[in-house]
Amino acid sequence: MKAKMTVNKSFTISSVDLRIYGSFVEHLGRCIYGGIYEPSHPTADAKGFREDVKAIVKEMGTSFIRYPGGNFVSGYDWENGIGDSRPKRLELAWKSIETNEVGIHEFVYWANEVNAQVNMAVNLGTKGVESARNLLEYCNHPGGTYWSDLRQKNGAMLPFNIKTWCLGNEMDGPWQIGQKTAEEYGRLAAETAKVMKLVDDSIELVACGSSYYEMPTFASWEATVLEHTYEYVDYLSLHRYYGNQKNDIKSYLAKSMDMDRFIKGVIAICDYIKAKKRSEKTLYLSFDEWNVWYHSHEQDKKQEPWQQAPPLLEDIYNFEDSLLVGCLLITLLKNSDRVKIACLAQLVNVIAPIMTESGGEVWRQTTFYPFMQCANYGHGVVLNPVIDSPEYSCEEFAAVPYVESVAVHNEEKDEVIIFAVNRSLDEEIDFTMELQGFHLDSVIAFSELCGHDVKQTNTKTNAPVKPIESRNFSIDENQISAILKPLSWNMIRCKNA
Ligand code: AHR
Repeated sequence: MKAKMTVNKSFTISSVDLRIYGSFVEHLGRCIYGGIYEPSHPTADAKGFREDVKAIVKEMGTSFIRYPGGNFVSGYDWENGIGDSRPKRLELAWKSIETNEVGIHEFVYWANEVNAQVNMAVNLGTKGVESARNLLEYCNHPGGTYWSDLRQKNGAMLPFNIKTWCLGNEMDGPWQIGQKTAEEYGRLAAETAKVMKLVDDSIELVACGSSYYEMPTFASWEATVLEHTYEYVDYLSLHRYYGNQKNDIKSYLAKSMDMDRFIKGVIAICDYIKAKKRSEKTLYLSFDEWNVWYHSHEQDKKQEPWQQAPPLLEDIYNFEDSLLVGCLLITLLKNSDRVKIACLAQLVNVIAPIMTESGGEVWRQTTFYPFMQCANYGHGVVLNPVIDSPEYSCEEFAAVPYVESVAVHNEEKDEVIIFAVNRSLDEEIDFTMELQGFHLDSVIAFSELCGHDVKQTNTKTNAPVKPIESRNFSIDENQISAILKPLSWNMIRCKNA
C-alpha cells in the first residue's frame, strides 16, 4: 500500500505546549510508596527517593506532573502531609492506608529532581474554598503570613511557585468522595477559583469536565460548569482510558478517532459558552488523564482493603498498547491549538510506562517508548498534515486511515520530526512525506517499533519491545519516502538544510 502526507512550513496548527507531555503521580497503589519513594532501596537518595527511577523518569522526558490525585485528592487533607507529625489515615478512594510520609515538600523536591513542574490538585470533595486558599498561600506566598511562615518553618524558605492548579477531580463521578451536581460543582469551583486568584493571580486553573465521554451528563455537565466558571478558569479537563476488551485490534487501534471526537466535542461546548457569554476569552483543554487501562481490572477486584501501598492498577502493557498510545499522542499533537496540557495517567507502577520491583529493578513498559520519543523530540510547531491514506472499516469505526501521522517543525534545531503509525496488520506502507517549504539535508534518525506479536510485553529481565533503527528511507529535496512496517510506530527526524 501507499500513503502520502503533505505539510507546508507556513501552514501550522500551533506550537507545542510541552505540558502535553505531562504525567500523573497519585497516592495510589505503588505509585509513590514502593515506586518513586522507597527509603530502603539500594539506590535511595537521602530523602528516600529511588535514583534508578528518577533516571528513567528523566529519560522519558515528562515535564509536568499532576499530583496528588485523582480520586485520592477528594478525601485528602494536605495538612497531614506537612511537618513532623504524619498521621496514618484510612484512604477511602482506593481503600488503602495512607502513611502521609510523602507530602507536598517531598513531592516538590522529587519533581525538581526529575526536571518537572508540579500540577497541583485541590480537594473539592470533602474540602473547599478555605483549604484550597490555605494550600496555595502555603505553596506560593513568599513569607510573612501564617501559612507561608509555616512552609518556611517546615524547611522551604522559597515558595514552591506552583503555576497550574486543578479544581478537584472527576466531581461528576458517583465513585467520587463528595460527588457533586454540575450546579453544585460549578458554583464551588467558581468561588474557589476567584479566591485562589486573589491569593496569587499568576496561577492558571483547570475546571473538571466529565469523567469520561459516556457519562450520561457529558456535555450538559461541561456547559453548566462553564456557565459558572468561564471567566475564572483557564482550562477544562478531559479524562479517557481505552482497552482492547473485545480483543479486536482493528477497532482498538482506531480508538484515537474516539479521542479526537471527544476533544472536538469539548471544544464545541467551550466555544458555545464563549459565544453565549460574548466573551473574548478562549478556553483551552487539559486532557489530564489519558491512557490504556483494562489489564488489571479483574486482579484489582481480589485485593484486600486497608493495605499500605497495595499493588493496584498494575497493567502490564503489550505491543498493541504501545501502538495505540502512539496514535493517541499523534491525536494530542494534532489538537495542540486547544489541548495545552495532557497527562499520561500514571507514571510509575499504576497504569504506568515505568514499573518497579520492591528492593530491585526498574523497567520500561512497551508504552514508554512512543511517549519518550514524543516528549524528547516532538518540540516546536505542529504542521497541519494533509494525509492521503487507504482506509479500513471495523466494528467500531468506519473509514479508519491505515496511516496516522503528524509532523513537528523544531525551528530552534531546524529539524522536522515525523511520527507515524501503520495500523495495518499485515501490509507495509510506502509512505511519502512531502515537506513543502523545506530543503531537506539528511535524515538524522528513523526509528521503528515493530515486528512483535501484538500481545508481547516487556518484563524486568526481558524487554524486547523497544525502538530499533531503520535504513528503509530515501530523501530528495523536500520529500522523504519511508517504509512503514505492518503494525509499527515510527519516528523520522530530518534536518533542514
Ligand atoms: O488514574 C486512575 C484514576 O482514574 C484516577 O484516580 C481517577 O481520577 C480516574 O478515575
